[in-house]
Amino acid sequence: KTVAILFGGKSAEHEVSLQSAKNIIEAIDRERYDVVLIGVDKLGAWHLLDETHYLDEANDPKKIRLHLTDQSIGVIPGQAQQQIINTKTGDPIPQIDVIFPVIHGTLGEDGSLQGLVRTLNLPFVGVDLLGSAVSMDKDFTKRLLKDAGLPVADGFVFKSHQQNTIDFSHVTTQLGLPVFIKPANQGSSVGVVKATDRASFEAGINEAFLYDDKVLIEEAVVGREIECAVLGNEVPVASTVGEILPQTDFYSYEAKYINETGAVLSAPAELTDKQIERVQNKAVQVFDILDCEGMARVDFFLKPDDTLVVNEVNTIPGFTKISMYPRLWMLSGISYPELIDRLIQLAFS
Ligand code: DAL
Ligand code: MG
Repeated sequence: KTVAILFGGKSAEHEVSLQSAKNIIEAIDRERYDVVLIGVDKLGAWHLLDETHYLDEANDPKKIRLHLTDQSIGVIPGQAQQQIINTKTGDPIPQIDVIFPVIHGTLGEDGSLQGLVRTLNLPFVGVDLLGSAVSMDKDFTKRLLKDAGLPVADGFVFKSHQQNTIDFSHVTTQLGLPVFIKPANQGSSVGVVKATDRASFEAGINEAFLYDDKVLIEEAVVGREIECAVLGNEVPVASTVGEILPQTDFYSYEAKYINETGAVLSAPAELTDKQIERVQNKAVQVFDILDCEGMARVDFFLKPDDTLVVNEVNTIPGFTKISMYPRLWMLSGISYPELIDRLIQLAFS
């Protein structure tokens, strides 16, 4: 089978995607799969990449870049397969059997790409259009979880046209301080600000609206940050459970990728068997509520009173060998190459 791995993308998580994809490309079982590399640049153009140099690697691994080629490609939706073409020559690119999207965030993880691939009649790895869209949008995620009776962080939602009506006193009377201000659709904590006073509140709102037309202001939930990986389609299974131990103010973009000592990913988390089982059951329940399939990483806060509050769900979670999602599966007995293989198989079933 030929697997097209799609990576990069226009989102703020472009660099994160390059790292996830690089690890997948290096680990995928070449006896079973031929690989076609499709890099999406920051402007959104698709490039068919030559495997001998698909990334320009600076010495600093955080600065890896797509090696752009003039083999830009396009898709003709709505017909049978073989519709991905070299836009220069008009030639179809090699027969693709399945797409493996490894683009985090906007346009890669939010259902857009999944919708496009659906129109191509190609199977793809991971969550379908609807589940991707509702899992990406933190407002809709919370509405669906609430509807199912699950606790979520208390908060407000504002659209950009309402920005002038946001009242510091009104919001903080209800939520207290600090509050977290977040773009509704973003990943890796990009644009997320922890506001501790009026000045940081106002700055945080301006920052969050740079990334989305919809912004959430949430109470700061005090609790341990617990994560669980889910894998499967109709009968998904949950991995062992991990914990994020932020070493900074919160688990920010910087703590995630820039500052090596920004956070410790501890797995398995130090929890009782009973707590682990609750996290796993809840993670599978959330996966189901949000119409997920294939994979997702469900992130929780475990409050001191033992309540589990879902923080968010990531349908294309960080996927380097040392990222939490693959690590949790390794600890649960599924190696990194085997995980990639299982995900591809799930795309066909
Ligand atoms: N959004 C990043 C990639 C994650 O959740 O792991
Ligand atoms: Mg996320």
